[in-house]
Amino acid sequence: MKTNIIQRDSLPIPNDAAIAHLYALAQHITQKIASAGGWLPFDRYMELALYTPGLGYYSSGTVKFGRSPDDGSDFITAPELTLLFAQAFAKPVAEIFYATGTRHVVEFGAGTGRFASGLLRTLDELGARCSSYTIVELSGELRKQQRACIEETAQQFAPCVQWIDTIPGRVDGVIIGNEVLDAMPVRLFARQNNLWYERGVAMTDTDRFAFSDRPLTAITSPAILAHVPGVHDYVTETHEAAAAFVHTVCSVLGCGVVLFIDYGFPAAEYYHPQRTEGTLMCHYRHHAHDDPFLYPGLQDITAHVQFSAIEQAARSAGAHLLGYTSQAHFLINAGITDLLMKLDPTNSACFLPEANMVQKLLSEAEMGELFKVIALCRGFDGRLGAFKSGDRSHTL
Ligand SMILES: C[S@@+](CC[C@H](N)C(=O)[O-])C[C@H]1O[C@@H](n2cnc3c(N)ncnc32)[C@H](O)[C@@H]1O
Repeated sequence: MKTNIIQRDSLPIPNDAAIAHLYALAQHITQKIASAGGWLPFDRYMELALYTPGLGYYSSGTVKFGRSPDDGSDFITAPELTLLFAQAFAKPVAEIFYATGTRHVVEFGAGTGRFASGLLRTLDELGARCSSYTIVELSGELRKQQRACIEETAQQFAPCVQWIDTIPGRVDGVIIGNEVLDAMPVRLFARQNNLWYERGVAMTDTDRFAFSDRPLTAITSPAILAHVPGVHDYVTETHEAAAAFVHTVCSVLGCGVVLFIDYGFPAAEYYHPQRTEGTLMCHYRHHAHDDPFLYPGLQDITAHVQFSAIEQAARSAGAHLLGYTSQAHFLINAGITDLLMKLDPTNSACFLPEANMVQKLLSEAEMGELFKVIALCRGFDGRLGAFKSGDRSHTL
């Protein structure tokens, strides 16, 4: 099977080993399309592209997180920008520890391990030492990186860290996932001439992957589509996998709080009539583009999170909303600027880059407004200081 490599030579071209990897995954997906009768819904394609064991983008050993294409990475996340991000979470996490009497953290998809390392150290400095830190990680390669990072930068806490690959049976304490929900498969839909279609993936005559639309029936149509205003042509996503995941996570929560940090909007904003192209996006070597068929297995595929659906999924599992706000409000309320001011401003080589990164996390034009923090809880009566101003729960 061919991919679209030749059509996008404005992007960096993968090397021979990467191309072999890409072809192996493309072949695997091609077989899945054939055995499904020639068409796969987009969420299944996305799941295969990201999570096929050994070949999917997040299941293979390729470098993902970093600052520039030169290190082979594709994108950067907040914990990689500055340690102050993880440190700012220590205060709300400590509040949850005190309110619940637990000292346990579960982190989903822990990246390079920098968030875990920073949080473990800062909790200890606050006198709220973690008793156990469980990382739910699907990638063996990332587990190795996380273990190395924790052993190098938070060695005294390494004995309390363990790795698992599925959601634990019951959790009392804090569950955290930064940019995890956006990496979950989405279904795609297109409205054309005022009729809705499910957008899936089929093979072209020239043996390439291509979008292929199928009419929706009353059974296959998500209810939310009936509420998208207007009759104009429109492409969007729904988030069944993320909602099912949040439902399961909230079901195993005994007493505690779940915190998800991600880019996205409430339903009314997500399905705004002017958002006609949806939010599906791919990242390869720090280039963002919109072709999920370009480099399967080598590029990230992501969609914004629809936070109203996340809140509903939590509610259906017996949890309730504790807070929902922008990343900027959450981090400021949690004291990130105080943490920055603890650095020595006369040491400009150290202070200025950190100040720049904090600006990136907080600025409305960068991550401060697009990224949100949602807190969902069960068996927890308290409030969190990180939502004391700017809470937007009413928008969900
Ligand atoms: C964009 S990365 C974010 C990584 C890290 N949290 C960070 O901020 O740098 C998304 C991560 O979510 C993980 N992920 C997706 N679904 C998951 C699941 N069901 N359980 C655990 N991790 C999951 C992926 O494997 C990937 O490592």
